[in-house]
Amino acid sequence: MKVVVTGAAGFIGYHLSEKLLASGAEVIGIDNLVDYYDVNLKEARLARLEAQKDFRFHRIDLADTAKVMAIFKEERPDYVVNLAAQPGVRYSLENPPAYIHANIDGFLSILEACRAYPVKHLVFASTSSVYGATKALPFREDRGTQHPVSLYAATKKANEMMAHTYAHLFGVPCTGLRFFTVYGPWGRPDMALMIFAKAIIEGTPIPLFNGGDMQRDFTYVSDIIEGLTRLLPLAPSTNTEWDPVAADPSSSGLGPYRIVNIGRGKTEPLMKYLAVLEKCFGKEAVIENLPMQDGDVPITSADTSSLEKLTGFSPVVDIEEGLSIFADWYKEYYNI
Ligand SMILES: NC(=O)c1ccc[n+]([C@@H]2O[C@H](COP(=O)([O-])OP(=O)(O)OC[C@H]3O[C@@H](n4cnc5c(N)ncnc54)[C@H](O)[C@@H]3O)[C@@H](O)[C@H]2O)c1
Repeated sequence: MKVVVTGAAGFIGYHLSEKLLASGAEVIGIDNLVDYYDVNLKEARLARLEAQKDFRFHRIDLADTAKVMAIFKEERPDYVVNLAAQPGVRYSLENPPAYIHANIDGFLSILEACRAYPVKHLVFASTSSVYGATKALPFREDRGTQHPVSLYAATKKANEMMAHTYAHLFGVPCTGLRFFTVYGPWGRPDMALMIFAKAIIEGTPIPLFNGGDMQRDFTYVSDIIEGLTRLLPLAPSTNTEWDPVAADPSSSGLGPYRIVNIGRGKTEPLMKYLAVLEKCFGKEAVIENLPMQDGDVPITSADTSSLEKLTGFSPVVDIEEGLSIFADWYKEYYNI
C-alpha cells in the first residue's frame, strides 16, 4: 500500500506517517516546511520519518501543481491523505492570503492529481471550525455549516465543496474529516496546549481569551490517527438513497463523497484542561484574562456516531491520560 501524506512534517501528518510505516505501508511525504511556526520542530519530526526505509520525502509547495503532478505520475499512490494546510483561526485574520494559497490552491493541486492519476481514496482534513456560528450541539455532519466565522473555516468548508465536485464530475472517492482540537506529543506551538505549557514552565502569564470561559472537544492525537487509518480503506460509494430534496450534506447521490467528525465526543471546559496540565507539571499558571477573540467559537462538541458506525471505533483517551503523555514528551523534548 502506497500512501501520499501531505503535511507529513506537521503535527498530525507526522503521527499518521509513523502509524502507516509501522503497519508496513510505503509513505510518500510532501511538505514545504513553511515557517508559520518553529521549523526546527518540523525538521525533528521529519528526521524521525526519514530514518525509516519506506519513507520518501518531497519538499515542495502544494500550490505548485506541476510538481505535485510529477510526484503522482512517478509514484502512482493507492491512497492520499491531505493534511497540509495553513492552520489556525486567529492567524487567518492577520494573513488571509496564506489560507487561500495553501488551503485552496494547494488542495486544488491534490484534486487535479487525483483526477489525472486515480486513487482508491482521498481523505482530507477539514475542521470542527466549519460548524461556525451554529449552537446545535453536539455538532452533526448531516446539519448545515453555512456560517463560518473565520477565513480558515471558510477555506476548509470550500475544500469540502471542491471535493464534492471532484467526486461528482471525476469519480474521485473523497472523505473529509472534521477534526476537533487535536492535542498530544509533537503538537503545534501555536495551539493553546503548547502556549500553556511554555508559560507554566517559564512562569509567564497565560493569555486566556473570553476569560477562559470556553469549552472544547479535546481529541488526543492517537484517537485521530486510529479513526483516520480505519477510514482510509473504506472509500465511500455514491449514496443511492440520498434524497436531493432533504440534501443531507454528509454524503451525496452524485458521487463517492462523505464527511465524518473525529472528536473525543466529550466536551471539557478550558479551565479544567489547564488545571490538569498544571497538575502534570506540578506548577500553577499565571493567568491574564483577555476578551473573546474574533473568529473564535465558545464551544465545540462532536457527535461521533457516524465514525463509530463506519469503523466500529470511538475515541477513548481522556484529557488526564492524554495531557500526562504530552507533559512527559514536552519535558523530554525541551530538556526540562
Ligand atoms: N491540530 C488540530 O487541532 C486541527 C484541528 C482541525 C483541523 N486540523 C487540520 O488538520 C491538518 C493538519 O494539521 P496540523 O495540526 O498537523 O498542522 P501543522 O501545521 O502542524 O501541519 C501542516 C503541515 O502542512 C505544511 N504546509 C503548509 N502549507 C503547505 C503548502 N502550501 N505546501 C506544502 N506543505 C504545506 C506545513 O509545513 C505543516 O508541516 C490541517 O489541514 C489542519 O487544518 C487540525
